[in-house]
Amino acid sequence: SDRIMLGPLVGAIDQGTSSTRFLVFNAKTAELLSHHQVEIQQSFPKEGWVEEDPKEILKSVYECMDRTCEKLTQLNIDISNIKAIGVTNQRETTLVWDKETGEPLYNAIVWLDLRTQSTVERLINNTPGRNKNHLKHKTGLPISTYFSAVKLRWLMDNVEEVHKAVVSHTAMFGTVDSWLIWCLTGGKKGGVHVTDVTNASRTMLFNIHTLDWDPDLCNYFGIPMEILPKVRSSSEIYGLMNSGPLTGIPISGCLGDQSAALVGQMCFQEGQAKNTYGTGCFLLRNTGQKPVISDHGLLTTIAYKLGRDQPACYALEGSVAIAGAVVRWLKDNLGIIQSSTELEKLAAGVGTSYGCYFVPAFSGLYAPYWEPSARGIICGLTQFTNKSHLAFAALEAVCFQTREILDAMNQDSGIPLTQLQVDGGMTSNKLLMQLQADILCIPVVKPSMPETTALGAAMAAGAAEGVRVWSLNPEDLTEVTSEKFEPQINPEESEFRYARWKKAVRRSMNWET
Ligand code: G3P
Repeated sequence: SDRIMLGPLVGAIDQGTSSTRFLVFNAKTAELLSHHQVEIQQSFPKEGWVEEDPKEILKSVYECMDRTCEKLTQLNIDISNIKAIGVTNQRETTLVWDKETGEPLYNAIVWLDLRTQSTVERLINNTPGRNKNHLKHKTGLPISTYFSAVKLRWLMDNVEEVHKAVVSHTAMFGTVDSWLIWCLTGGKKGGVHVTDVTNASRTMLFNIHTLDWDPDLCNYFGIPMEILPKVRSSSEIYGLMNSGPLTGIPISGCLGDQSAALVGQMCFQEGQAKNTYGTGCFLLRNTGQKPVISDHGLLTTIAYKLGRDQPACYALEGSVAIAGAVVRWLKDNLGIIQSSTELEKLAAGVGTSYGCYFVPAFSGLYAPYWEPSARGIICGLTQFTNKSHLAFAALEAVCFQTREILDAMNQDSGIPLTQLQVDGGMTSNKLLMQLQADILCIPVVKPSMPETTALGAAMAAGAAEGVRVWSLNPEDLTEVTSEKFEPQINPEESEFRYARWKKAVRRSMNWET
């Protein structure tokens, strides 16, 4: 049968906390042609610890690529039209491997992991004025368990193999982007050891002003600089695929997943923002070419740098650790639901939590509190409360957490957002979207193509010098169709519930004392 002529295509690897995907887009129309998704196992070897297997992550990437290529062939689409591949990934998750054997030296320590809590508390106690923002002027980040530096330090101090490899100069550190690009471009046989500015800006070793690793920060955390990847822009050819059906295709885009979603939502103008509901929930607002340091508990991060000669753009970010993860917890740990659709049904059936509040501070609290010792609580229970109310409270928790970061964002910038652009897996939950509009008291706008994270990575890859099959000129960007959710409850009701939520949050931080 005839091959369908589509023009250039671009692939995107989206390696998230809960799953891996490979997606292929048409570079001219941004249309999603085919994709495949594989779930990723997480292990919790001790209380507060979260790990993933680097080899499973890599295998899932190959599997998704193979399956997507098969699906395209079945659709009569010639995979030789794929001209570039972008990588986007869960950020901060920390890996160390041996460059001679190609073997990971420990599991990946996932961003949510709390094993470094005591280290973080000690570091903060040793700063002048016990100031968690001691390194913020350089890094844009508070000292927290969230970022890579403390995880890497833990690996060096606690894993004999890592220690040995560092001493014998065979250790390589990377976040998931670096691990994947190194493996995909050949691994121990000539793989490139790189990261991009957006991922680097989440390690706490990176100076967001000079756009390079910072010797003083590396010294502070005791990290030898030779184990770090080279820092590159988010859009340039890093290397070529070394095996599989796409051998020889350049990998030419790399962005942390939240940066990629900002690009995929076309938030290129200063002031534009998006909120992505994945395992966690991340609201980023583009602040243009200048870094804005938050007074309200937000992070300053690199939004993107789309080409070697292009300027870096910055973003303010409000990070929420637990969003979709609360659904997985209700399913796997409590067994009160089988799926996320069931959660929506249960919650919609009651339409209220009946005064029950659920603060899912499983990994402490991130923005705007940065309190690693916080723990989850469920309060306001009566004999009447049932699992439907709990389901509703879980969804409401995601919305309240977003409200807290939106408030912080508005205070920092002085210009309130008049609507919120959203994306990510949980946005298929209509009840959640309506609740979000109700709790924010502004409209929530969701693009009809939900895979904005992958789209952003594909755009960066397709626009790279030496590829140039995707134009990022504003006049060439295709208009996105979207769905809008308007607030439906009155603001007083919304404020009342939000005030209660805040009380519950205070309890989650002080429950031990
Ligand atoms: O900072 C962590 C973030 O990049 C993870 O995103 O979508 O896997 O929750 P996600």
